[in-house]
Amino acid sequence: SPLQTTSPSMGCSPPCKGGIMAAQCVTKVELTVSCESLLDMDLFSKSDPMCVLLINTAGSQWYEVGRTETVKNCLSPKFAKKFIIDYYFELVQRLKFQIYDIDNKTVDLSDDDFLGELDCTLGQVRPHVTHVKTCDRRPYPGKVAVVRIRAEEIKDSRVVNFEAEARKLDKKDFFGKSDPFLEFYKQNETGWQLAHRTEVVKRNLNPTWRPFRVPLQSLCDGDMDKPIKVECYDHNNDGSHDLIGIFETNMKRLQEAEFECINSQKKQKKKGYKNSGVVSVKMCQVVKEYTFLDYIMGGCQINFTVAIDFTGSNGDPNTPQSLHYISPQGYNEYLSAIWSVGMVIQDYSSHKMFPAFGFGAQIPPTWQVSHQFPLNFNPANPFCPGIQGVVEAYKVCLPQVKLYGPTNFSPVINHLASIALQATQQRTASQYHVLLIITDGVITDMDQTCSAIVNASRLPMSIIIIGVGRADFTAMDILDGDDGRLRAPTGEMAARDIVQFVPFRKFQNAPREALAQSVLAELPGQVESYFRIQKLNPPNDPESQLQPNESQPSASAQ
Ligand SMILES: *[C@@H]1O[C@H](CO)[C@@H](O)[C@H](O)[C@H]1NC(C)=O
Ligand SMILES: *[C@@H]1O[C@H](CO)[C@@H](O)[C@H](O)[C@H]1NC(C)=O
Ligand SMILES: *[C@@H]1O[C@H](CO)[C@@H](O)[C@H](O)[C@H]1NC(C)=O
Repeated sequence: SPLQTTSPSMGCSPPCKGGIMAAQCVTKVELTVSCESLLDMDLFSKSDPMCVLLINTAGSQWYEVGRTETVKNCLSPKFAKKFIIDYYFELVQRLKFQIYDIDNKTVDLSDDDFLGELDCTLGQVRPHVTHVKTCDRRPYPGKVAVVRIRAEEIKDSRVVNFEAEARKLDKKDFFGKSDPFLEFYKQNETGWQLAHRTEVVKRNLNPTWRPFRVPLQSLCDGDMDKPIKVECYDHNNDGSHDLIGIFETNMKRLQEAEFECINSQKKQKKKGYKNSGVVSVKMCQVVKEYTFLDYIMGGCQINFTVAIDFTGSNGDPNTPQSLHYISPQGYNEYLSAIWSVGMVIQDYSSHKMFPAFGFGAQIPPTWQVSHQFPLNFNPANPFCPGIQGVVEAYKVCLPQVKLYGPTNFSPVINHLASIALQATQQRTASQYHVLLIITDGVITDMDQTCSAIVNASRLPMSIIIIGVGRADFTAMDILDGDDGRLRAPTGEMAARDIVQFVPFRKFQNAPREALAQSVLAELPGQVESYFRIQKLNPPNDPESQLQPNESQPSASAQ
């Protein structure tokens, strides 16, 4: 392919399939971050660092790509969570790695101490090169910390699904238990590189860890014979985790078996030492993982639905103070949000017909409050032709309704969920639904909305919420759930994170693409995660038709 030769530093893989434009032909790059000699900001313990990655493509606004985990009490953290970004070789992609000392559970970082940042372009972070740079640390300029970025092209889209448990681990804590977790390391030229860290199982010498998945590339560069080191630790809150034991293996041997954790210090000291416990790998299955682009190219459609907040708190649309006031230039924040997100999403829909709803208004002819009415007042066919059609329907609808209240999200979420549920009956990856809710943020039915989102998390749908105006959006951050999984009032947990919230005011002076990039950043991952959980391949994928049982060789042998 001629495209592959135009990239100087990295090949374009997977190779572009027919019909896709060069601009969409990207390479995925995995970035691993570690730091050294960070500043100690906390009074009674060490800093708790976390790294945020921001990206800026083609001179637009910075937006957040993601965050690592917070490493407790550590000035030289190695972050286990990696950033995966698309490498567009024809664009300048500027990156900013910001390190914060996390004091506070809030998503907002302004109440956490800033430890420094590293600014570079993705082109500068070549694959397999560790990027070392001093960190200009406010408020202590002149002091240096080191931020290392390691970039690797993801050539191998296979992942390993693991299930692991352990027996008879050593007691490390005073009261006769341990809080065990595992770390998996890949061997590189100079040592071992962290590939995965499991969660901590509290007070248990026979733990079962939750199933986890690790890209084959991170674990062994796709080489089944490459050494893998597994370390088992007892977690301590102060960060000084105690080593329980270690074993070395490789992918071939991991597929079987049980491994003795050996603690070499203890082995030297203690006569008759056997081991410090046994880790058994219950499942270690290599599967091919499809990307968002694989699904789109394989025929998956993104169905886009818009829902607009017509509650009284927006203000009288005839007055310029109102969020629904359309300026003489034809602008308001609702219209701007519809345009910027819709223009990107409509490329992923073939028929480009988009249902659009309003909520929280009194509507003719009865003037009852409705929490879900079609903008075109046609319940049998709420579809609008293109994003232009949605905009027209909104403009026609606005003067015909009375803004009222309360602000209920759940009816419109439940409505879309029932449509997404119908789509699941075909058992193909042919439709994924995206609901855009634009709101001034003062939600009334929080409990019902949490339940509706938890239910929707099991369906092929995602929700984007854009908050317009100056309201307090704390409730929206809770729905976003970046802080942890969302729960329904019943305690039921969301199956996956499907909500992305962004306040419009952050993008007021930014180019139009910036808002869309930010709200859509998590969507590809959400589409992939849904179809992956459902074990659905792209509908028209030639590979999956050739090898339907690639991921389960033993099943096909029967
Ligand atoms: C945590 O955040 C709250 C609210 O922003 C703030 O009042 C409090 O001082 C913060 N705590 C710390 C330790 O920074
Ligand atoms: C190997 O991994 C270690 C730990 O992450 C890292 O410090 C080192 O730079 C890596 N070596 C190479 C050659 O990339
Ligand atoms: C979703 O979109 C596809 C193609 O754009 C269309 O054929 C299908 O009817 C839509 N489904 C729903 C439920 O709107």
